[in-house]
Amino acid sequence: MSISHIIGEGATMRIAVAGATGTAGVPTVALARERGHHVVEVSRSAGVDLLTGERLTTALAGVDVAIDASNPRLPDPEADLVEVYAQATSRLIEACRSAGVEHLVYLSISAIHDPAFDEFPYYLAKRAQEQVIHDSGFPATIIATTQWHEFAMNPAAVTTGDYEVTVQDWLIQPIAVAAVAEALHDAAHSRLPRRSLAGPETLRLPELTQRYLAARGDDRPVRTVETAMPALAEGALLAPEGAELIGPSVEGWLAGQAQ
Ligand SMILES: NC(=O)c1ccc[n+]([C@@H]2O[C@H](COP(=O)([O-])OP(=O)(O)OC[C@H]3O[C@@H](n4cnc5c(N)ncnc54)[C@H](OP(=O)(O)O)[C@@H]3O)[C@@H](O)[C@H]2O)c1
Repeated sequence: MSISHIIGEGATMRIAVAGATGTAGVPTVALARERGHHVVEVSRSAGVDLLTGERLTTALAGVDVAIDASNPRLPDPEADLVEVYAQATSRLIEACRSAGVEHLVYLSISAIHDPAFDEFPYYLAKRAQEQVIHDSGFPATIIATTQWHEFAMNPAAVTTGDYEVTVQDWLIQPIAVAAVAEALHDAAHSRLPRRSLAGPETLRLPELTQRYLAARGDDRPVRTVETAMPALAEGALLAPEGAELIGPSVEGWLAGQAQ
């Protein structure tokens, strides 16, 4: 019998988590184990490589649902990011098919389809991965979220020095990565094609970084610098229409960090 007929909220599954050791992967793996599922970790540190396909089909043997929360870095900085990411997703779907995986959950970013980002290679690469998933016809759910609270220290926009922290002036609507992990799990049961999630409040990244540092007793000053792309500062990253707004607030998240 197909798992789509037998999976209920309480059923035990074998879940592969690609990017198991990452910011989203760690709480996703923890939640799966907490809920009694068997987890297969997919990452280079577990000996599985999404970019080369090494051990991928073997790792997916017996897996019911694969969650892709990976964030591969290019081994060759000259390589075409869009092509490499698209190939990685094609390979993952091929491996899912040959291993008999029934559903793929893919973690994406809300704003990637905004034309303001037509020249932003990372977002183009994420678009390409979504496109591969659509074109494949493989049963899949895309969970698209705004930036997470952890973006407070993300090297894409934050540079830490000994005496100050320099932060690009992004306008964001951050969501807790724990809520993202929940959504990735729920997708394994609900089988919706797409969900869009955001946090409950908007603020500028330098303020988020400053509050995060202060909560940790780190008194380095935060210096705000212009963004590389104006759209990042002008609201393109905020919750898109129809997004579900999920707490906690920044305050609630910081309080949780302190515990
Ligand atoms: N940061 C945000 O605010 C945000 C918001 C929305 C969506 N997202 C998306 O969420 C996803 C996860 O981001 P993250 O920040 O959690 O990632 P991360 O912390 O950078 O972790 C990356 C994960 O991918 C694994 N990985 C890297 N290269 C790999 C390869 N070649 N083969 C297999 N595994 C590989 C890493 O493990 P190894 O190093 O051991 O391989 C690690 O487990 C990304 O796709 C990102 O676009 C992020």
